[in-house]
Amino acid sequence: MWFTLLVSCLLLAPCIHSVQWCYQSQYSCEDSCREPSEWDKDFPDCGGQNQSPINIVTRKARLNPRLTPIIFEGYTQPLNVSVQNLGNTAVLTLPPSLRIRGGDLPTTYQALQLHLHWGVNDGPGSEHTVDGEQYPMELHIVHIKEQYKTLKEAMNDTVGVAVLAFFYEVSTEENQKFDQLIQALGRIPYNGNTSNVTEFQVTDILPSLEKLSSYYRYSGSLTTPGCDEGILWTVFQQPFSISQQQLVNITRQMWFERGKPMVQNFRPVQKLNGRTVYKSTACSCTSSGPVFLCLCLLCILLLIEGIFT
Ligand SMILES: *[C@@H]1O[C@H](CO)[C@@H](O)[C@H](O)[C@H]1NC(C)=O
Ligand SMILES: *[C@@H]1O[C@H](CO)[C@@H](O)[C@H](O)[C@H]1NC(C)=O
Ligand SMILES: *[C@@H]1O[C@H](CO)[C@@H](O)[C@H](O)[C@H]1NC(C)=O
Ligand SMILES: *[C@@H]1O[C@H](CO)[C@@H](O)[C@H](O)[C@H]1NC(C)=O
Ligand SMILES: *[C@@H]1O[C@H](CO)[C@@H](O)[C@H](O)[C@H]1NC(C)=O
Ligand SMILES: [Zn+2]
Repeated sequence: MWFTLLVSCLLLAPCIHSVQWCYQSQYSCEDSCREPSEWDKDFPDCGGQNQSPINIVTRKARLNPRLTPIIFEGYTQPLNVSVQNLGNTAVLTLPPSLRIRGGDLPTTYQALQLHLHWGVNDGPGSEHTVDGEQYPMELHIVHIKEQYKTLKEAMNDTVGVAVLAFFYEVSTEENQKFDQLIQALGRIPYNGNTSNVTEFQVTDILPSLEKLSSYYRYSGSLTTPGCDEGILWTVFQQPFSISQQQLVNITRQMWFERGKPMVQNFRPVQKLNGRTVYKSTACSCTSSGPVFLCLCLLCILLLIEGIFT
């Protein structure tokens, strides 16, 4: 009897004292971790006015002609990189030779890491939503101004950090270029596990760079505690296609820090609080199909008419 009590106390002890943050999918009666709506109790910035992710209402996004295509440097080079299970996602460390500039960014930014947010199988899993649609997965590539060495240092600068966000969608075709990453995730099931990926090309898991001229820009925050604000977000409109089986494999291979399957590791959308979301192009010319082509032609005609009247 006493022994049982003692054992249960010992088992429960770490849980009772745990005030670690967690996602909604990890929260339960036994695990009194802080779920997203309570993050601000330990991390006040999470209750701020400029938080991420957000729902992007395309109709309200304001056209900004300065949002020219981002210039990617070094993104096609094959890399030998490490991948780690952080207990809440998988992170690939990227070398500073990967850089971005242009697109109204104030300077050149260098890559630090990339990581993913996903759902259950091919269910909703992205952090940002577009007109209420939640994609099955979202990739974040975190960059800092090139004069900084660490994220902490860059965070001290109100425009020190720029994150690129890419959506994934389910297609009937398998995208075999993604398999190398899926296999790497399979080698890091538990918190703290690391592995190496050789000859990895970041462009293998992105839509082709020519299709990336349509994007949204707004000022937000990190989507995990401490939720630091002053992050320049670039959310690309064009999703990357992978198969349902590939998504299932991704979401079934890894585990959260305290034992549950790592699924639905996304933060719910936050209030816009009067912020403006900017868009790079007037119409969705990247999306093919007769309807879009018609819309594009209509846009152009209206523009021409506007010029001559
Ligand atoms: C990456 O690793 C492979 C195999 O271990 C090696 O052949 C190659 O030279 C390495 N490439 C770089 C850029 O370090
Ligand atoms: C943050 O910025 C302030 C003022 O510019 C500076 O004094 C401080 O050293 C910076 N902190 C870090 C960690 O870079
Ligand atoms: C995904 O899972 C299926 C079934 O378990 C397996 O046959 C396939 O090889 C896996 N693909 C990858 C890339 O891990
Ligand atoms: C992964 O992490 C678990 C739990 O910490 C550990 O037992 C295991 O040895 C690790 N595996 C590798 C390959 O590092
Ligand atoms: C990954 O590569 C590094 C450097 O090449 C090496 O020190 C480390 O042992 C490798 N890790 C694994 C898990 O293979
Ligand atoms: Zn993220």
